[in-house]
Amino acid sequence: MDRKKTYKIAVIPGDGTGPEVIREGLKILEAASKKAGFKYSLQEFDYGAERYLKTKKVLTDTEVQGLKKFDAIYLGAVGDPRVKPGILEQGLLLKMRFGLEQYINLRPVKLYPGVDTPLKDKGPKDIDFVVVRENNEGLYVGEGEFLKKGTKDETALQVSRNTRAGVERCLRYAFEFTRKRNKRKKLLLCGKTNVLTYAWDLWERTFHEVAKEYPDIKTDYAHVDATCMWMVKNPEWFDVIVTDNMFGDIITDLGAMIQGGMGVAAGGNINPEGVSMFEPIGGSAPKYSGKNVINPLAAICALGMLLDELGEASAAKMVENSVMFITANKLKSLSAGKMGYSTSEVGNLVVENLK
Ligand code: IPM
Ligand code: MN
Repeated sequence: MDRKKTYKIAVIPGDGTGPEVIREGLKILEAASKKAGFKYSLQEFDYGAERYLKTKKVLTDTEVQGLKKFDAIYLGAVGDPRVKPGILEQGLLLKMRFGLEQYINLRPVKLYPGVDTPLKDKGPKDIDFVVVRENNEGLYVGEGEFLKKGTKDETALQVSRNTRAGVERCLRYAFEFTRKRNKRKKLLLCGKTNVLTYAWDLWERTFHEVAKEYPDIKTDYAHVDATCMWMVKNPEWFDVIVTDNMFGDIITDLGAMIQGGMGVAAGGNINPEGVSMFEPIGGSAPKYSGKNVINPLAAICALGMLLDELGEASAAKMVENSVMFITANKLKSLSAGKMGYSTSEVGNLVVENLK
């Protein structure tokens, strides 16, 4: 926290409902900055489907470099039915994650008071854990090839690349995070050592080595399939889960569902030594765009995470407390169109209850 500093925040509203939810997030940023006494400046970028359709540009290398001069990036959503699936996801979202070396994808799974979970007999005290997803390697590196493409003998290879350095920095982050979180001090490695014997051998060995430096952290291991089962059956067992890129992608959608849906699920793409990007993880929801019905809480929670990463912990706490107050006392549901309030009204409620 540096009181004289003006945080430079890059804003990428993006596609679909992205701009609507970012607008609410920025209202909260303004209110929180006044209450907590920090300064910031915003620069908006028009990256996304609209610009791609006009110019064929998604995100150039120079533009990625340009983002490095910011203290944080606030992203709305990526994806548009008019653009072939994959172009924006890879060209914008993954390009930022990789190009800015955001090697951690941090995804809290927390059931807020008043929010319905599909898990019978589970409440906010049972569902409160964080997934640390490796964000720069694994199956996401885009390596592979076709052999004999188009023939009946075709083979498609998709490489999962796991480097010692990449795995180790992710695990170290997870151990540090578990210590700092200071809840149950339990870190679970989620993998597939029984089948994927190269990748998960490296992960497991590195995990045990790094663990020696963290005697205060209890460690555990579960296969990814079993992890899914326990997330549904006994989510209260988890504190922090660390896993690779692909498994992290999958289990965090499951996590989003048990915490009440995409309406509240937020994530941070973190480069602890560089610029991090924060986003609601729900996507662009094109069918709701422009209707002022989408739930902005995920984007607002992403803003809370952004503030935390900047070192504005008390502002971050204020945001989360206000969100919890709204879910407990105001919203009828977290689903788009069923909240009992419009998108902008929900934003206003969060502003009014910031304290
Ligand atoms: C996510 C998304 C992305 C991913 C897609 C859009 C590329 O599903 O953020 O979880 O697979 O990481
Ligand atoms: Mn995903």
